[in-house]
Amino acid sequence: MNGNTYRVAILGCRGRGQAAALAYYDHPRTKIVGLCDLIEDRLDTLGQQVDVNERFTDLNEMIDQTSPDIVAIPTGTEFHYGLCMHVLEHGVHIEVEKPMCIDLVQADDVISKAEFQGSKVAVHHQGRVSPAMQAIQHAVDEGKIGKIRYIYGSGKGYYGGYGLMNIGTHMINNMLRFGGVCRSVVAQATTKGQPITPQNVVPSPSGMGTIACEHLTATLQFDDDVTATLLQHRFDRMDTSAYVMEIYGSEGRLFWKGSSAWWLPQPHYLPNGQQWEDLDLIFPDHYKSENRSDPEDYCFVDDYVRALDKDDEHECSGYQGRHVLEVMMGIFESAAYRRRVDLPQTDRGHPLLRWRSEAGLGDLEPLPRDYGNWLSTQVD
Ligand SMILES: NC(=O)c1ccc[n+]([C@@H]2O[C@H](COP(=O)([O-])OP(=O)(O)OC[C@H]3O[C@@H](n4cnc5c(N)ncnc54)[C@H](O)[C@@H]3O)[C@@H](O)[C@H]2O)c1
Repeated sequence: MNGNTYRVAILGCRGRGQAAALAYYDHPRTKIVGLCDLIEDRLDTLGQQVDVNERFTDLNEMIDQTSPDIVAIPTGTEFHYGLCMHVLEHGVHIEVEKPMCIDLVQADDVISKAEFQGSKVAVHHQGRVSPAMQAIQHAVDEGKIGKIRYIYGSGKGYYGGYGLMNIGTHMINNMLRFGGVCRSVVAQATTKGQPITPQNVVPSPSGMGTIACEHLTATLQFDDDVTATLLQHRFDRMDTSAYVMEIYGSEGRLFWKGSSAWWLPQPHYLPNGQQWEDLDLIFPDHYKSENRSDPEDYCFVDDYVRALDKDDEHECSGYQGRHVLEVMMGIFESAAYRRRVDLPQTDRGHPLLRWRSEAGLGDLEPLPRDYGNWLSTQVD
């Protein structure tokens, strides 16, 4: 595979840092030139896994000494904004884990800074460029389902508002691939069986900002009469098999679930009618089965290489990541104020904090960061 090799530094060496590093290690057009973590054991563990001796505990030193083209920022969500702004000072391209930030003020700042610096931003929504999603895109492009009419997506059963920030961010990004720009949202939201109130607004687990709603159902309006439904309902037991997307077209349907994709050659499913057919997954031609990385992360890296080669945006660009946040903030706003919200919104502050403040409520009390402990404070 010809072309420049892009130099990559990884800032954060735990779970997602390892996933990113393995993908950049496996890809023939990227080379890891530095690793950074505040905890030396993590640095050394990952350094050995990807054979990188340039290990740093200070991100400025890493960037100054290794001159990366891309800095990956796989850290806790509450650190995304500060680290993105800091790293962009160095004039490098970045990729940041999802969700991009915790509100639109932050996302706007990151985009403005990147534009000022001439840097690209990608948000690690790897499902959108996965082999299964490429197969779905190929089927759409071939006209296998005719005109797209409607998209359905569900979460895995996390507490609704947290599910939206954690998992909904991926699903909305997937929907944007097929729906285009989302023009408005309407949401229904309940906690303990009742419509939410300002008292139900709480800090999110895992540092994902401010959330509300145990059960959340949202409809999204796209151009050309395309609509979508997004479910983020809390289940008594998490169920990853619920995490699916289905695309309904005028002549057929497509079904996505993780690393699989199917096609139903008719628009309306009848239990005894025609059967779903497997779609062939689409991998980059240089993908090797012996790779240690997750194929989705590998495809995410591959799309960054394509984008940088062409001075183009990543399929999961910062602009798309910010639009995902617009949809999520719009859903919270619609749930709170019980009205349709047109996008993009002019008030970029967090709508749930505004709602609480208008109700005369003060600052939020902190809650446990860990989801299990957090959940026990919300559900009997
Ligand atoms: N894309 C996905 O499929 C997916 C899956 C799970 C989680 N996530 C996202 O990944 C993120 C969490 O990733 P994680 O679980 O690996 O995070 P983590 O908090 O476990 O690890 C982050 C690492 O970064 C290091 N770090 C933090 N600040 C630093 C700094 N200033 N300088 C150097 N090192 C620093 C920490 O010491 C830690 O080792 C979240 O945003 C989450 O939403 C994405």
